[in-house]
Amino acid sequence: MLLAAQQVLSAPNTHRWRVAHPQWRDNPFALGVASGQPRADSVVLWTRLMAQPGGDGGPLPAALLPLQWQVAHDPRFARIVRSGTVLADPAQGHSVRVQVQHLTPGRPYWYRFLSGGVASPVGRTRTAPADGAPVDRLRLALASCQHYEQGWFTAHREIAAQELDAVVFVGDYIYDSSNLRFRLRSHEADSPCTLDEFRARHATYKADPDLQACHAAHPWILAWDDHEVRNDYAGQLSDEEDLSPAAFVQVRAAAYQAYFEHQPLAPLHWQSGQVRMHDHFRWGRLADLWMLDGRQYRSQQPCNPGQTARGRVRWRCDTLDDSTRTVLGAEQERWLHDGLRSGSGRWKLIGQATQISPWGVPTPDGARLVYSDGWDGYPAARARLLSHLHQHGLENVVFLGGDVHRHVAANVRANVFDPQAPVVASEFVTSSLTTAGIPDPLMSWIRRSNPDILHARSDERGYMLLDVTDRSIHCTARATGFPVLAHSALHTQARFRVEAGRAGPQRE
Ligand SMILES: [Fe+2]
Repeated sequence: MLLAAQQVLSAPNTHRWRVAHPQWRDNPFALGVASGQPRADSVVLWTRLMAQPGGDGGPLPAALLPLQWQVAHDPRFARIVRSGTVLADPAQGHSVRVQVQHLTPGRPYWYRFLSGGVASPVGRTRTAPADGAPVDRLRLALASCQHYEQGWFTAHREIAAQELDAVVFVGDYIYDSSNLRFRLRSHEADSPCTLDEFRARHATYKADPDLQACHAAHPWILAWDDHEVRNDYAGQLSDEEDLSPAAFVQVRAAAYQAYFEHQPLAPLHWQSGQVRMHDHFRWGRLADLWMLDGRQYRSQQPCNPGQTARGRVRWRCDTLDDSTRTVLGAEQERWLHDGLRSGSGRWKLIGQATQISPWGVPTPDGARLVYSDGWDGYPAARARLLSHLHQHGLENVVFLGGDVHRHVAANVRANVFDPQAPVVASEFVTSSLTTAGIPDPLMSWIRRSNPDILHARSDERGYMLLDVTDRSIHCTARATGFPVLAHSALHTQARFRVEAGRAGPQRE
């Protein structure tokens, strides 16, 4: 059989490690399986060999452990269409990513791993339709901000049961920190710094049965935000004044390494702690999706002291208007602008971590209070992107965001501060899976001050469903009250649609 796979991240160093063939006493697939980066002819499969934390299996041997993988047309594996062997490398925490190629476009597949006679749970994935093919419908779930300590992942249980093409997760997959006020269950330890500590943090999340079910049910497409590393970090700067950029880059490299070890992602470039995360996906002629990295290349938040990164409420801060400041970095910005201009999909979806429409509030003297970690803190970078949409007459652009812990539907104007400027894009921001939102009085002040925000509620947790057809995108905001209980049911908080050729969400 054709070995249609590549082992990614870095090639195992077979000179350093022996190969072992363990016999398992505990289930070695305690962290489940996952698939991601769905293309027309390939997907990436993931698992990490690890016995249940606290089990009696002990640590895995410091050896390369062979794993078989199988991809089939059916969940019982009667028709296996691809298979192979991959080595779980201790240098990568015994995680594996297999990019399975030469698959058929637009169809489901089932996959599993086998080790020492033990089979993993079965995962289901789906390839994207062929490039240029007509596509009737695309169905996505949009999710972000899953603080393990602040709730159960009931939303993932519901997403797992949906018929979807993919889950689009726009950041804060793990949290580096705790908030004792909202703690319902505990992380395994304090803030991670080393690679082993970040691995343990990811394992805590991946051991959650609802998150595992959601990964096993659908391919995921991921962007990251700050909490995968440190709150509000910006490029090589953290909010810890005693942590130099050189020292923080070491923490960041450990966090990035652990992140890739735990996701079905083939990193495009991985070099001395830097990695390319931004990526592009397409579903035939129906939709393009650009997933952005708003952390690795961004400028420092405005008016911060010294070399520290941190979001703050800012007012009368001259640095805000510095035109050289960036969210995406010059190279990613150019890549996005070029892609938007040349993309052939009817819909141009932009997945990124936070809210792009403004949400500052006015003060009596006319100046606006803005929160400096979001796009409001980078107005020149936002203006460059929105004027690019306007100048090139790009239609059917929809921003998909997260981070701010509220469901939002908003108009995005060519000039966000001019109520007469044309609406050039639509925005949907999903509420957090679990993380607490801002208080209601502040939420209503923000709504009152920003008429382009058509809907915003921070009191409920949840996710969004997006049904995309040639004619429209329907967005359903699913939600549940806080705190998230183990068996709380979700309800529909709001529905919006965007019609092709007419920018701006309309309430249904
Ligand atoms: Fe968050």
